[in-house]
Amino acid sequence: MIKQDMNVAVVGLGYVGLPLALLAARKGFSLTGIEVNTEKVDLIRNKKSPFQDENVQKEIETTTLEVTTDFEAVKKADIVIICVPTPVDCNKMPDYTPVESSCELIGPYLHEGQLVILESTVNPGVCEEIIVPILERVSGLKVGGGLSLAHCPERINPGDAKWNVSNIPRVVGGFDAESCDRATTFYMAIVEATIKPMGSLKEAEAVKVVENSFRNVNIAFVNELARSFAKLDIDVVNVIDGAATKPFAFMAHYPSLGIGGHCIPVDPYYLIEYSKKTSGFEHDFLSLACKTNEEMHEYTVSLVQEQLNKKSKALNGSRVAVLGLAYKKDIDDCRESPAFEVIKLLEEKGAIVISYDPHVLSKSTVKTLDEALTNADAVLVATNHTVFSSLKGADFARFNIDTIIDGKNCLDKKDVVMSGISYIGIGR
Ligand SMILES: NC(=O)c1ccc[n+]([C@@H]2O[C@H](COP(=O)([O-])OP(=O)(O)OC[C@H]3O[C@@H](n4cnc5c(N)ncnc54)[C@H](O)[C@@H]3O)[C@@H](O)[C@H]2O)c1
Repeated sequence: MIKQDMNVAVVGLGYVGLPLALLAARKGFSLTGIEVNTEKVDLIRNKKSPFQDENVQKEIETTTLEVTTDFEAVKKADIVIICVPTPVDCNKMPDYTPVESSCELIGPYLHEGQLVILESTVNPGVCEEIIVPILERVSGLKVGGGLSLAHCPERINPGDAKWNVSNIPRVVGGFDAESCDRATTFYMAIVEATIKPMGSLKEAEAVKVVENSFRNVNIAFVNELARSFAKLDIDVVNVIDGAATKPFAFMAHYPSLGIGGHCIPVDPYYLIEYSKKTSGFEHDFLSLACKTNEEMHEYTVSLVQEQLNKKSKALNGSRVAVLGLAYKKDIDDCRESPAFEVIKLLEEKGAIVISYDPHVLSKSTVKTLDEALTNADAVLVATNHTVFSSLKGADFARFNIDTIIDGKNCLDKKDVVMSGISYIGIGR
């Protein structure tokens, strides 16, 4: 039975955990957020969102959510939800450390009757092979014999005006039927969308890596098309938009300078590595998709170089204004953002990079667009923030910009060209 007066603890208050905790608090549950980052805890206590998100900011101002760094808060919780990061290391190997450490930290405070739910994205097998042994060792309890365990992978899409934590359908897998039922009932109480129970923990884990691998593969396909069509003088964006007029069996994905964020460039590696280690199966197709997307960084740098060469300039010593650091439109999240890899490669080739992102101001960036554009030999658009996609050719021409590389295909190509500027996009 899920009752609204139940206590819920959310472990990890990031892009996933914080909106979830706020939602459950809004729905009447008693919520405690447990976070290891003391800066984040202070910000939330002071009613400030640790990341840019209007809805989170609004809700945080009136929420009943309490936040702490003390894992003892787990004791009073009926449900403990883990929302910690699942990154890859520099060799693209899954790094389970945050998941493992959060289980070690909650374990001592667990007691019979509680339900633990993992929301972090993981490969099939993580709940049973990593989480169950840690929880049982540290708590002395038995999963499926007093302690319940479920997996409900988060699908939140930061910056999405339509789909948010309260209306995105979810899937739930349980260690046993009771775990699955309890978790399903909880999500039905907070989410206004379908909650689909899966046959097992592994199935639920697989759903999420499949969703993000699907995106990775489809983006790799259009990135490959972009590179091919550029040589055939065909505008790939027009082609994709044309294909998208087919009302069935086609889904538009668009090419760019690379993929970013904590999910799409990362999650496929969890499946690739787990399959290789566990069954010896090689995900050749998925691995090629990851590689194809990662090659877009080099490709984009080659476009900058070629465009500068056309103006009789070398990349070495040229000033390149990079507009945007975040991995996607109108947000401040820079995790795995392709902008950084491209900047690194440009600098390795001797370019002087001036970067600007109104959502991500740091010591290494300039503070205004004007500063970025002043004396730039070329402009590379790396994020399709509205402030950039709404720029017209005249806005660049004012600064005597004569070369634009549109890494997000977000500018009005015709208008830019009409202003006498050389324009090249990714496949257009
Ligand atoms: N960001 C997204 O758009 C998104 C969407 C769907 C799924 N996910 C998945 O959700 C998970 C969390 O992602 P996120 O974007 O919220 O990450 P995040 O980095 O924004 O937040 C994770 C939080 O967990 C905290 N943390 C780390 N270790 C901890 C520990 N041992 N105990 C308590 N707190 C700890 C971190 O300090 C951080 O605040 C990942 O598995 C990710 O793949 C993310």
